[in-house]
Amino acid sequence: MVCLGNICRSPLAEGILQSKVNLDAVFVDSAGTAAYHLGNRPDERSINIAAKYGLNIRNQKARKFSINDFDEFDVIYAMDKSNYQNILSLARNEEDEQKVQLILNEIHPNQNKSVPDPYYGGNQGFENVYKMLDEACNIIAKKL
Ligand code: 4NP
Repeated sequence: MVCLGNICRSPLAEGILQSKVNLDAVFVDSAGTAAYHLGNRPDERSINIAAKYGLNIRNQKARKFSINDFDEFDVIYAMDKSNYQNILSLARNEEDEQKVQLILNEIHPNQNKSVPDPYYGGNQGFENVYKMLDEACNIIAKKL
């Protein structure tokens, strides 16, 4: 699960998908394309919205997406089109490229919609992001 800062959207996506899959069989992680918040916990607003729905994401720590992630993961979900392009720019070959997906295409195939960046908005933005990611992760979990 990849966004820009790895403190708002992708930590939620990580926590939500982890809550829906068998963690003995599936490894779910998140990262950011930027290094602004390395080592930080998720944004308090993400922590709070997760807690509202019974998830604890407080212990996550922000990290930067790395080229090694193409080797470690089978699927790389980008939250928005800018994240998608940034990840693709690091791909070494077609196999890497094919791992990168826009997460909302799970709900709306081929529509290339973005999960809006809630960082500069209020709590409603986080609620909205949570709902989108919950719906997308239901579909991902079913496929897994
Ligand atoms: P995220 O949100 O990409 O969902 O973690 C953001 C977090 C921080 C910044 C931008 C977006 N920032 O500019 O610091």
